[in-house]
Amino acid sequence: MGRLDGKVAFITGAAFGIGKATALLFAQEGAAVAFIDNQEQAGQATADEIHAAGGQSLFIHADVTQSDQVEAAIKQTLAKFGKLNILHNNVGGSTVHDSSVTEAPVEEFWRKMQLDLFGMWLGCRHGIPALIESGGGSVINMSSIFALIGTHKKDAYTAAKGAISALTRSMAVEYAANKVRVNAIAPGATGTERVLKLLQRDGVTNKSLDGQLFGIVPPKDVAYAALFLASDESASTTGHILSVDGGLTIS
Ligand SMILES: NC(=O)c1ccc[n+]([C@@H]2O[C@H](COP(=O)([O-])OP(=O)(O)OC[C@H]3O[C@@H](n4cnc5c(N)ncnc54)[C@H](O)[C@@H]3O)[C@@H](O)[C@H]2O)c1
Repeated sequence: MGRLDGKVAFITGAAFGIGKATALLFAQEGAAVAFIDNQEQAGQATADEIHAAGGQSLFIHADVTQSDQVEAAIKQTLAKFGKLNILHNNVGGSTVHDSSVTEAPVEEFWRKMQLDLFGMWLGCRHGIPALIESGGGSVINMSSIFALIGTHKKDAYTAAKGAISALTRSMAVEYAANKVRVNAIAPGATGTERVLKLLQRDGVTNKSLDGQLFGIVPPKDVAYAALFLASDESASTTGHILSVDGGLTIS
């Protein structure tokens, strides 16, 4: 028996990285997994991998920053699977263009606000009504350790992730009466292709890895945190920011 048997999940950004690991794990645990991504070929490849393993999935080529596309994707999910129980707002990520408040290009600030924060906001705006209509459910947002500790040269990303954590708590209060739980995950440096490239660029002495007591986090470990928050095992957990950082924030 799977931990998500009979549930329907919607994930943003599952062509690569943590989102892909999570989509595969959710499907393996019995969920029907709908997801959007702006990378068409790689998105379809994730869906094919789920089908090949005997799971159910629906890939929708869409941009998380476009309200009409996110709204349409949620409608397609409801049309195919009939309900929505889990909403995982995953798209985002730090970039090489980010920097301190005084040095980062202004455009980078708005890019991070649009992709990480507005993308999450749109997922909630269109996904939460579907969760409520389905009798309640679980929202899992993607924050970062940089919402919990100070760091250098990532101020636009930090601002977006801090806002995501704050909004996670207020939405937890707002939608509790509708039986919707809202939590977030705050990963440390996680070994996705994108981040491995960034770390290579910065060199092996990258400061963000110094306090991670077990080294870089494997994407599947973040997926398992999402699985807990998605499942009924976390029925009493809401408004929580779950660190998956090998102890970085306590060391
Ligand atoms: N990897 C890390 O070290 C780390 C650490 C802390 C937090 N996070 C967070 O975890 C999440 C996933 O990170 P990741 O490392 O797996 O990233 P990734 O770049 O590997 O994956 C992101 C996915 O989102 C998709 N995507 C990007 N822009 C999109 C758009 N406009 N519309 C639809 N899809 C889009 C990409 O194609 C990709 O499939 C992000 O929110 C990131 O901030 C990651």
